[in-house]
Amino acid sequence: MEPIIQAFFDPDTSTVSYVVHSGAGSDCAVIDSVLDFDPKSGRTRTANADRMVDYVHEHGLNTVWLLETHAHADHLSAAPYLKKKLGGRVGIGAGITAVQKAFSHVLNRRDRFDGMEFDHLFQPDEEFHIGAIKAQALHVPGHTPADMAYRIGDAVFVGDTMFMPDVGTARCDFPGGSAATLYQSVRRLLSLPPETRLFMCHDYPPAGRTAQWVTTVAEQRASNIHIHDGVSEQQFVEMRTKRDATLSMPTLILPAIQVNISAGKLPEPEDNGVRYLRIPLDAI
Ligand SMILES: [Fe+2]
Repeated sequence: MEPIIQAFFDPDTSTVSYVVHSGAGSDCAVIDSVLDFDPKSGRTRTANADRMVDYVHEHGLNTVWLLETHAHADHLSAAPYLKKKLGGRVGIGAGITAVQKAFSHVLNRRDRFDGMEFDHLFQPDEEFHIGAIKAQALHVPGHTPADMAYRIGDAVFVGDTMFMPDVGTARCDFPGGSAATLYQSVRRLLSLPPETRLFMCHDYPPAGRTAQWVTTVAEQRASNIHIHDGVSEQQFVEMRTKRDATLSMPTLILPAIQVNISAGKLPEPEDNGVRYLRIPLDAI
């Protein structure tokens, strides 16, 4: 079945969020929502999430899933806000516990994470439904150990594995990341039928082109600049390792990770009613 897919692009973080459904009044899934966050003022807003809420209401959709492809390092998830507004269960890959462990150590968080912050942890290749649409969580580690791609009908939401063909692939230098593992994950996605539609989680368009987020297995195999057909694992690992060594940390990694490993829940307010994030110094 070909699901109906509405994309929402956030130019501030270059993230693409999606609502996936099968028509007016059907069940839907929200994928990789964004809570607006201004790191200079510490202010959060829900403009991005509200666009999705409006879309869901306009089409009379029943939200059953709030899916995260992974614990994002570049934006805060709006899943708790959307859950309150729309309902649905927050799902992420079961490997999230490894990411929680790595970062709770860095953050010296005393509360223990055990994955239960999320409503559902997907096992590799677990099948599920969004109304009449068949879906499957494909474990695609490499960027982080927990990354899932979601195959929904004939479409695959690839998360941070590959980007548009002229941008390449995701970095692999976060805790638990591995370029060799990402290579295997991407090749697995590229073994799907050539006409499979692939929906990106981000786009960082080169100068001169506008943001795009849909491509196909065939297009990626022919022309992805990092991992087209013919690139060996060794060549990929060499390229990725060299390139990752030049990348600085994402602007929002510290705010984003501590919120996102808690399923997007913001820290409880302190006795003055204000919520605080933790910024470890010289730790990452
Ligand atoms: Fe990411």
